[in-house]
Amino acid sequence: MEITPTGAALGAQVTGIDLTKLPPAGAAIREAFLEHSVLLFPDQTLSKHEQVCFSTLFGSPIVHPTNTRDRDAEVPEVTLISNVVDDGEPIGALGNRELEFHADLVFLHVPGSVSVLHCLEAPDSGGDTYWSSNYAARDALNAEIVARLRGRQVVYIHRNPSYNPDPPARHPLLCTHPESKRDFLFVSPSSADSIPGMGDEESRALLDELLDHATQEQFVWRHRWSPGDVVVWDNRSTLHRRDGFGAEYRRVMHRTQMLGPLTA
Ligand code: OGA
Ligand code: MN
Repeated sequence: MEITPTGAALGAQVTGIDLTKLPPAGAAIREAFLEHSVLLFPDQTLSKHEQVCFSTLFGSPIVHPTNTRDRDAEVPEVTLISNVVDDGEPIGALGNRELEFHADLVFLHVPGSVSVLHCLEAPDSGGDTYWSSNYAARDALNAEIVARLRGRQVVYIHRNPSYNPDPPARHPLLCTHPESKRDFLFVSPSSADSIPGMGDEESRALLDELLDHATQEQFVWRHRWSPGDVVVWDNRSTLHRRDGFGAEYRRVMHRTQMLGPLTA
């Protein structure tokens, strides 16, 4: 097995391994994952069951709580991410639109910890996915802003009210990764609602400033998908976004999701 860092602030490519024959390499993969936050395994062929099995290296795959229509009929821990429309019905979630930077399932008290995408079909152009390093973002904060953020939390509210727990989830802005023990900045814009103890305007301005800070180009790695790619990302130490792509293309991904505490 060979691990080659991308050269960006995060991410590494892992070759010389067949993810269907995992056990001997499991510990090394977990170690590389904690170091690089995003791992790309090219040229893999995983059945849905094999993907679920591989995902257990990073936690317990869940049945996704919101992509309900997009669950695989045979293996409910797998959801389809796709723009393909079959008989007038989309076969998967998220269509072909651009997605802004976000972390997954942050409106849950125990949010997404790790996500796995296995690419089956990729568009000829567009649909690239980008990850930014929340570790790098934390390291680049100056002492003054760290003092301002310390002890502060963000309330996260999903736009679909039926998904929200009562009371809504809150997560700290400054976190310590439960496994790597490294500090990171955590703010996911999609459902960030407010910072308790701050006025609306101040909290909105601070959230916008932190998002701009966290997603600077030097903290980002961009991936152009090929069929056979498996990408595993840490949903605590990274944010992700993707480009939109033309409706004339097919993009099909199998997705699995783990949950876990955000901070030690
Ligand atoms: C996701 C997601 C990005 C992509 O599955 O959580 O944001 O590239 N997908 O499809
Ligand atoms: Mn996502």
